[in-house]
Amino acid sequence: MSILVTGGAGYIGSHAAVELLKTGYDIVIVDNLSNSNFESINRVKELTGKEFPFYKCDLLDRDELNTIFENHNFEAVMHFAGLKAVGESVEIPLMYYHNNITGTINLCDLMAKHDVKKLVFSSSATVYGHPDSVPIDESFPLSATNPYGRTKLMIEDILRDLYISDSTWRIALLRYFNPIGAHESGRIGENPNGIPNNLMPYITQVAIGKREKLSVFGNDYETHDGTGVRDFIHVIDLVKGHLKALKFLDKNKGIETFNLGTGTGYSVMDLINAFSTINSKAIPYQFVDRRPGDIAICYANPTKAEKVLGWRAEKDLNEMCKDSWKWQTDNPNGYEQKVLVQS
Ligand code: NAD
Ligand code: UFG
Repeated sequence: MSILVTGGAGYIGSHAAVELLKTGYDIVIVDNLSNSNFESINRVKELTGKEFPFYKCDLLDRDELNTIFENHNFEAVMHFAGLKAVGESVEIPLMYYHNNITGTINLCDLMAKHDVKKLVFSSSATVYGHPDSVPIDESFPLSATNPYGRTKLMIEDILRDLYISDSTWRIALLRYFNPIGAHESGRIGENPNGIPNNLMPYITQVAIGKREKLSVFGNDYETHDGTGVRDFIHVIDLVKGHLKALKFLDKNKGIETFNLGTGTGYSVMDLINAFSTINSKAIPYQFVDRRPGDIAICYANPTKAEKVLGWRAEKDLNEMCKDSWKWQTDNPNGYEQKVLVQS
């Protein structure tokens, strides 16, 4: 029996793969490499000393995916595969709906066909839209402000309907807050394509000199220093939450939702200052206008995950900053190898 990890070549999926293998699970990774690099698969093998099958397969290719289900005996699926860039989702919504929703429908359909009914799904705090207050707990009203967020919300609804239609499913909807950091080895990490959308990869690229300065989107929010506040969570803590969710599903039928966050909000300036101090690296920045669609403050009430899963985030902001920087400095070009041309 093994765990199917969709999107396992990506940022969070590759860290989950390491954690699963370390814990003794067998895994199979499926990824179309649309936002990742095969090198991450090599690194997961290197870090764990374990082999596992990898399929370069698109979840939209139902026949190929079916063959993978026929060739393996899966006990559960961790479903990370999806497109995740908010701005891009506004520009090409149909691609986002097709990829994320049709991909998930194909996956669930084949899971049902092959009687694999245990699923851990990557949802997002984006499903809380513009929350009225913080901390945010799982019972808060749901809404979406962009096509990416709507795909997460729609998939959550689809999975709730799936459970209503067949109560033998076991599903965990994990709503991530802001994952940052990297494996402490510096061998795997976040590898954004082009100009990073998210704060931490932008900071590390400024720190290494790839970008001149960070634009801080807004310093007039009603927060302690005027900049946006988020619940940054170390990716290793986040993936540990997935293993706890898997164990929970072993014992419980049903569909359950969990916030995966630390419960503490830090501002953009807090993160810049922590990064600069712990890594002795100044981050040039300038204040610019707010980014459209951003909310002022977003942090989790993670009590349910602690009570029900026995999980809580352990790593602090300094570790997140240290590990993100190690990943960036050890891999200045991410997974792209620099080709040395001899003259
Ligand atoms: P990522 O882009 O690094 O990983 C996603 C992986 O899925 C990539 O390797 C990509 O190639 C693959 N993929 C995409 N579409 C596919 C398809 N149709 N078939 C097969 N593979 C496909 O992103 P990540 O940061 O690791 O995020 C993983 C999941 O967590 C995503 O679903 C994302 O929406 C969700 N999430 C991420 C964050 C975050 O801040 N990183 C926050 C909340 C939720
Ligand atoms: N920010 C900047 N400059 C940048 C990038 C970001 O100031 O160059 C600020 C943003 O305005 C925000 C904070 O840093 O205040 C965090 O922004 P990110 O883009 O890193 O993260 P978001 O909170 O906007 O969104 C992230 C993911 C979403 C996910 C959400 C869940 O990108 O996909 O977390 O909470 F849904």
